[in-house]
Amino acid sequence: MRSYITHLECTYCGAQHKHSEVMKTCPECNKVLYARYDLEGAKASMTKEALKDREWNLWRYFEIMPVTDPAYAFTLGEGGTPLLEAPKLASRFGFERLLVKDEGLNPTGSFKVRGLGAAVSRAAELGVDTVAMPSAGNAAAAMAAYARRAGLRGIVAMPQDTPSVMKDECRIYGATVLLVDGLIDDCGTLIKRGAGSAGWFDCSTLKEPYRQEGKKTMGIEIAEQLGWRVPDALIYPTGGGTGLVGIWKAFDELEQMGLIGSKRPKMIVVQAENCAPIVRAFNAGARHAERWENAHTVASGLRVPAAIADYLILDAVRESGGTAITVSDDEMLHGMELLARTEGIFASPEVGSVVVAAQKLRESGVLKESDETVLVSTASGLMHTELVQGDSPVLNKNEPNPARFVPTPERRSQP
Ligand SMILES: Cc1ncc(COP(=O)(O)O)c(C=O)c1O
Repeated sequence: MRSYITHLECTYCGAQHKHSEVMKTCPECNKVLYARYDLEGAKASMTKEALKDREWNLWRYFEIMPVTDPAYAFTLGEGGTPLLEAPKLASRFGFERLLVKDEGLNPTGSFKVRGLGAAVSRAAELGVDTVAMPSAGNAAAAMAAYARRAGLRGIVAMPQDTPSVMKDECRIYGATVLLVDGLIDDCGTLIKRGAGSAGWFDCSTLKEPYRQEGKKTMGIEIAEQLGWRVPDALIYPTGGGTGLVGIWKAFDELEQMGLIGSKRPKMIVVQAENCAPIVRAFNAGARHAERWENAHTVASGLRVPAAIADYLILDAVRESGGTAITVSDDEMLHGMELLARTEGIFASPEVGSVVVAAQKLRESGVLKESDETVLVSTASGLMHTELVQGDSPVLNKNEPNPARFVPTPERRSQP
């Protein structure tokens, strides 16, 4: 197995750059760089047949991943997450088939390990010794874990109100945690300064070329799990948009390798009502999104006021015939509860947003009953127990009839 990476290409001005050097954004125009591959070569080796014997981790698709020396393909067993049927939600919302890609089962509890697993591994291969990034929480934990795995120093900057479980998780991996009185982009400014003065390698969303390579494995897995085809719609909780653009890139590469056809799912962006720069730009017909002032939402992963990949996200949504919608924080929490109560999947508030979006899009007729729809469930709810706390009866061990305190499903609020 070998990687067929050939070069890096700017997604904006088209300039080509060497992949053998440490790169950030395009030196010519400062936009997002993509890894490009010899897909003809990759096609001959990454066949459906060959994949049958491979492990389900990030490096399953080694031919179209950026690490060239397998010794640097660090893994914690990420990926290979289930594409679960959600029959109760499907019938409740009026879909024939609704699926949940459950990324909460990844190491550290979120899809972020895919991107950071790829970026940190490649950084280690290129000789970097310190990786750093701003994060709303999940990405920081993922970076810290892979930095440890790869033997690199990790530095994360987080808004100070990030859930403490995420800060603690980073610390236990040995990362340096810097807390910032501000939003994620303020954290980004701090990391940029450290990168300039101390030579830290900045792993910020799409400010280095490889996180999206890891994220694209979600798209490859979805296609493979569906028997090498894509669904009709894919609903994605969008912050910086790495996952959405990564999945979109995956489908292009798979088509060029003859593994899927030209059909694409409608790519659907969901954002929080009080932080929706991409939805606003989509509705305005713009290709770039203005910064969203005073962003706030319980879903820290969606609290991204400005995305460097705005044009890539908006292009994917438009080319796919998709759409972009917002949901409120209350709706997200309701969506979280609904997913847990109906399907037994405890996911994060970001995921609550896609659950509610699926319902709204079905009710408005934007999605049809026959549209096979995938909800990307980006993270576990276990880091967010503060959002779902409730009371349970405390019984004396001699309680004569404990059964009377056990609420039956009928007595609880119905999903
Ligand atoms: C749970 C969760 N969902 C979604 C997102 C947004 O992801 P993306 O940057 O790919 O838009 C994040 C980002 O932090 C997240 O943590």
